[in-house]
Amino acid sequence: MCGIFAAITQRNIMNILIDGIKKLEYRGYDSSGLAIIDHDNNMVRIRCIGKVDELIRKIQKKKILGHIGVAHTRWATHGKISKANTHPHVSKNIIVVHNGTIENYSVLRIFLQKKGYIFYSDTDTEAIAHLLHWEQNKKKESIEQVIQNSIKQLYGNYSMVVIDKNNPTRLIAARSGSPLVIGLGIEENFIASDQIALLNLTKRFIYLEEGDIAIIKKKEINIFNKKNFKIKRKETISNIKYKSIKKGKYSYYMEKEIYEQPASIRNTLKNRVQKNNTIYFSELQFKKKNLLYYAEHIQMVACGTSYHAAMVSRYWFEAFAKIPCDVEIASEFSSRKIAIRKKSFLITLSQSGETADTLSALRYSKKFGYLGNLTICNMEGSSLVKESDSYILTRAGIEIGVASTKSFTTQLTVLLMLVAQIAHFKKENKIAEKIIETLHILPQRIEEVLKKNELIKNIAKKLSNKKNILFLGRGEQYPIAMEGALKLKEISYIHAEAYAAGELKHGPLALIDKNIPVIIIAPKNSLLEKIKKNIKEIYSREGVIYIFSDQEFNVEKNIHLVKLPYIEELIAPIFYIVPLQLLAYYIALNKGKNIDQPRHLAKSVTVE
Ligand code: G6P
Repeated sequence: MCGIFAAITQRNIMNILIDGIKKLEYRGYDSSGLAIIDHDNNMVRIRCIGKVDELIRKIQKKKILGHIGVAHTRWATHGKISKANTHPHVSKNIIVVHNGTIENYSVLRIFLQKKGYIFYSDTDTEAIAHLLHWEQNKKKESIEQVIQNSIKQLYGNYSMVVIDKNNPTRLIAARSGSPLVIGLGIEENFIASDQIALLNLTKRFIYLEEGDIAIIKKKEINIFNKKNFKIKRKETISNIKYKSIKKGKYSYYMEKEIYEQPASIRNTLKNRVQKNNTIYFSELQFKKKNLLYYAEHIQMVACGTSYHAAMVSRYWFEAFAKIPCDVEIASEFSSRKIAIRKKSFLITLSQSGETADTLSALRYSKKFGYLGNLTICNMEGSSLVKESDSYILTRAGIEIGVASTKSFTTQLTVLLMLVAQIAHFKKENKIAEKIIETLHILPQRIEEVLKKNELIKNIAKKLSNKKNILFLGRGEQYPIAMEGALKLKEISYIHAEAYAAGELKHGPLALIDKNIPVIIIAPKNSLLEKIKKNIKEIYSREGVIYIFSDQEFNVEKNIHLVKLPYIEELIAPIFYIVPLQLLAYYIALNKGKNIDQPRHLAKSVTVE
């Protein structure tokens, strides 16, 4: 949520800043801005509402030369979307970009206004800028000392980068709650909210930890931990290829990411199945000895698409690994008093590993005596990975489209592998082996369903002008219906709701008429007969039905069959989400929406 990019360079900085902030646009795109200290030691600040392209247009006319600067792309929290609220915020010589929310900002604002500061924006960030200026002038200290002392007065989540125009030889970065990663260059250095923005500049990274303050100069970086001790943080070399973050032949990242799913799943499975048909995750090192396997209950916590993946896995954990499992939305979990089940183990799921609600849920869970915790995550250096006892990587590769696709199917793949592993441990060998065998076929099956794109395109044409769409599923296809509805809402802005098909008669049936299409996921499984009954109930009330199935159905007026290839029951949920992703994609395309950057949303939600 909000992207920060800053650099101190040998080369002229402008293109580097623009390029960096453009790559972080997925974190928020309400407005964007940058500030550079130019060769005459003037601050040049350019800000505008809208996407980074607007900023680029504005800058094209100007020739600005400089070697230190900060840039920001905003997802509005404090204050509406306006130029005045766009970062960087300035207090005389102090320039700040910030990601997060300062909870006590109104108190600070009143205090600073009394000291004579004028606020030009409604943001909490401007309060940080004035606070730093006030403290610096009071104590006549260097900006790094001021930051070290003043951040104690800030309550909330933040990561920020500051430039002191009076000494433009360094960037000062502070991390508390939101990620920041330093990119190491040759006699130049960079810092950003995500390494994606840095991959074309360097392969060498240092992730800041909670409470760290970094002073970044061209040739030197010093980091201080929350106790103000100078420390060395580990340097990591990224093996992510810059090429992998380009759209290539695709129109949108979401399209690319949908089509990448067979490859991502292959990567997720790679080297994890042992010769004796057991599963081994090399990164899964428990601090406490393998407590997951002795757990009598699993508590899963996640948000958005990751929550839907957790919901699917609940069916698998209980049916195949014989372990009771509950799933809860992270923001709900951390806002209620928990009565923890006996010998319960916590699993969090997150693509980014930075979702504030999921992180708070993990932190909150530590008060309750869970046997241990594990995160299933796509980002190795992320906060969730760092703060969890153990982790498994989904290996989806970088996902840029705001609507998650490949991260969902790889999460499900990991979850099914984990279920097989626990099933093995519990001597449920037959099912464990069956799962492993079936998982091998999964990438090929996804390839087969992706070939149905023309069929889905035609259905999309019929549905693009609808105002409301219902999605129904039963069993583990119910969360798939939820995920299908979420995809559609997110990118096409069509109101879509999902129900467990059995719930239809308890309310939603009242909605049925010829204007609300109903998408029903009906693969061959033990629930098919029940689903057929639901179809009849809708049909006899003149509902318009689209059945996604590998089975034959009597196609009558108002009943459309979207005939899909055969799929093994065990992996059917991972398979059935793919046509629903395509459906949402083509509908949004028909409606001319900005698919990768849907309005009001951001990929990584780092505020609660
Ligand atoms: C945001 C994104 C969703 C994502 C959710 C959870 O809302 O727009 O696509 O599913 O966050 O994100 P996580 O990174 O924790 O999986």
